[in-house]
Amino acid sequence: MAVYQTTVSAPVNIACIKYWGKRDTKLILPTNSSLSVTLDQDHLRSTTTSRADPSFDKDRLWLNGKEESIEAGGRLSTCIVELKRLRAAVEAQNSAAPKLSTFPVYIASRNNFPTAAGLASSASGFAALVASLAALYELPATPSQLSVIARQGSGSACRSLFGGFVAWEMGSAPDGSDSLAIEVAPREHWPDIHALICVVSDDKKGTSSTSGMQRTVETSALLQHRIAQVVPARMDAIKDAILRRDFPAFARITMQDSNQFHAVALDTDPPIFYLNDVSRAIIAVITEYNRAAGAIKAAYTYDAGPNAVIYTPKENVKEIVELLLRYFPQSQPFPDPFGLDVNNEGKLPAGF
Ligand code: DP6
Repeated sequence: MAVYQTTVSAPVNIACIKYWGKRDTKLILPTNSSLSVTLDQDHLRSTTTSRADPSFDKDRLWLNGKEESIEAGGRLSTCIVELKRLRAAVEAQNSAAPKLSTFPVYIASRNNFPTAAGLASSASGFAALVASLAALYELPATPSQLSVIARQGSGSACRSLFGGFVAWEMGSAPDGSDSLAIEVAPREHWPDIHALICVVSDDKKGTSSTSGMQRTVETSALLQHRIAQVVPARMDAIKDAILRRDFPAFARITMQDSNQFHAVALDTDPPIFYLNDVSRAIIAVITEYNRAAGAIKAAYTYDAGPNAVIYTPKENVKEIVELLLRYFPQSQPFPDPFGLDVNNEGKLPAGF
């Protein structure tokens, strides 16, 4: 008897222009467009295996070995139902295609990094889930078309369906059909850019992105200014910087946008604090590093947690790792910081 099973992995992405706010919470339509870099390392990925079998009792999902319930109408169910609907369309076109759309599925997903520590696990997780079912169902869909489905699992997940530099265009259609990810440039366009992930804490974050951003939409006047006056021009400017490989322009916009995202978090009532003292100290170190160089050589950015991501051209990686180790001595030996090759970041262990 045939076995219908696929395994697909998807990477984490880190936004330079942050998504923060929904205009439609059910369809996950954002209040602004966003842009990210998809990391291409092996150790920041979600890997998902999907299997369809007529003997299964119902659709079930395990995350890192623990079963999660699939609530009807919830995010997981929305993605699975939509992918089964697309599979049914394939079956309607081709009577020889096995009726996988009628089989229950078992889905097992694993992250090889801490879940919900501000390291965008929902992004890689939903991207891997959607890509895995799309492969199982042999759907003739482009990454942009799949991004519309992944977006309904977790907004930022839509950007993890592409490598390289990716925009999530907010769109305007009420059904969300044009709120999707597009590739701005592939990774090979600018291989020189590296991401250093500084794990300040791998605790689960205090305020989830979903509830935090909704509170911001409801209470922050600064968010309204950001949406209308700031992000549209920044999206154009950062795309242009990427296409011209202009690191100082890319870095300046990335830092400004991280700062404004944390400002709107603070402008939320009650306020949301994602950065801690170590996060702020890293901002000070990078700011001083750039000032002393008389040029912008590195950019920090922070998502909904205290961990820093530092973007920098390859030539500066060694210097920045040395600098961070001087200011933040490690309790554990640092894993091979100076043998960093093109596709490696220096990952600072937790607890510094
Ligand atoms: C700060 O995509 O996790 O990382 O759509 O509610 O699942 P939901 O939110 P999520 O929010 C990510 C917010 C961010 C910024 C970003 O990745 O653009």
